[in-house]
Order: sequence, then C-alpha cells, then structure tokens
Amino acid sequence: MSRNKFVIAIDGPAGAGKSTIAVLVAKKLGFLYVDTGAMYRALTLKALRNKIPLDDRNLLIEMARKSKIDLVMDKKTYRVFLDNEDVSKEIRKEEVSKASHFIASVPEIREILWQIQRSYRNNHNIVMEGRDIGSIVFPDAQLKIYLDASVDERVTRRYNQLKQQGIECNTEQLKKEIILRDKRDKNRKIAPLVKCKDAVVIDSTSMTIKEEVDLIVQVYKKICSEPQ
Ligand code: DC
Repeated sequence: MSRNKFVIAIDGPAGAGKSTIAVLVAKKLGFLYVDTGAMYRALTLKALRNKIPLDDRNLLIEMARKSKIDLVMDKKTYRVFLDNEDVSKEIRKEEVSKASHFIASVPEIREILWQIQRSYRNNHNIVMEGRDIGSIVFPDAQLKIYLDASVDERVTRRYNQLKQQGIECNTEQLKKEIILRDKRDKNRKIAPLVKCKDAVVIDSTSMTIKEEVDLIVQVYKKICSEPQ
C-alpha cells in the first residue's frame, strides 16, 4: 500500500539549500516534510550531552537503540524532539554540526534511522531530504532531486545566515569546513552522498528559491500526468 504514496527525495551537499526548498515544496503540495539530518543531529546532541566518546561505536549504538526521535510539523513550525524534549534549536549548534559525522558513519545507527524514515511513507506523501534518500532509503522514490550549488555560493549563503544571527565568521574558515563536510559525506563507506542516475540534478548556484521550488513542482506535476 505504502508504494502508492509519493516520495520526493532531495539529496545534496551541506548548504545547498535543501531544507528551505524541501519545506516549501512540501507546503505547496501538502506533503509531509522530513529532515533526516535532524535525526543524526539529535543523536549527536545526545552523545555530546552524555559525554559518550564519539569513537565508541558500541556505546553510540546502545544509546541510539534507547532513543526516541520525533519530528513534528504543523502549519508554521517544524520541531525536533529527542526523548520528548524539544531540541530543535540545540541541534543546529556548531558543535553538533562538527560532530555529526561520527554518528552518520555507524551502520547500525543508520539502520535504526532508516527504519523510522521509511515508516513515514506508510501514511503520507513525503518530501524527504538528506544524503542517501534516493540511493538507499527510497531507491523507488517517484521523484529524486540532487540539489547542488558551487562551494563559493554555499559559503556566501552560510556567511549571510550566520551574520543575520549576529555570529561573527570568516569566509576562508567556512570554505574549509564546507569542503571537509563534502569530503566526509561523499567518501564515507556507508551510504555516501551520490548523484543517483535517475535524479534530476538542479544546480541552484544562480537560481532563486522560487525558481527552484517551481521547477520541482513542475517536474512532479509532469510525472503525475504521465500514464502509470
Ligand atoms: O544536513 P545536515 O547538515 O543537517 O546533516 C547532519 C549530519 O547528518 C551530517 O553529518 C550529514 C549527516 N546526514 C547523513 O549522513 N545522511 C542523511 N540522510 C542526512 C544527514
């Protein structure tokens, strides 16, 4: 039955604007939005809080098995709960971003999160964003998007975002961090970030948000109008 639900899988590197676009597409189509990065972040936060050594896979797996992660979206807000606590803000902190690759590289933890991610399709049409959605979570997604942008454009967007939040930063340092994150996402052994052959590749470097959203909605409508 769940196969009847429509999945729009949006993958791409950090800072390509996946969340912004995915939320807007989901709102436009009335789909459920699922941010899988938030799940890896929530477990990273828990490991940091509990001072679990990030290279102790067994302890991390045990922690993940005992954790409850809920993503709650209403009309205006998107919130992430860890063991019933709202951690939406805390998971965006820099120390969580920096440490999340440890959690993301543990196969047993990914298995746990994949199960939760797949379960969203049981009852909903979804827009799910991450790194491995089209390749592993939903290889049969009806629409796969690979959203990219140049490194310099991603640095500029990140810089402006941090500046707006009143956080001082340096573009050279940001560039180094983005390049390192790309390398980790693309080269890890389990579920690396890949461009699926059947994905629609969107380079958003010189596109507006509206253009990107309209393009995805247009492709979605085209797929829906084709005979099955
Ligand atoms: O997209 P993000 O920055 O919120 O992701 C947080 C971390 O989780 C980052 O290390 C990449 C990883 N991630 C992943 O491995 N697979 C996903 N589907 C989503 C995120």
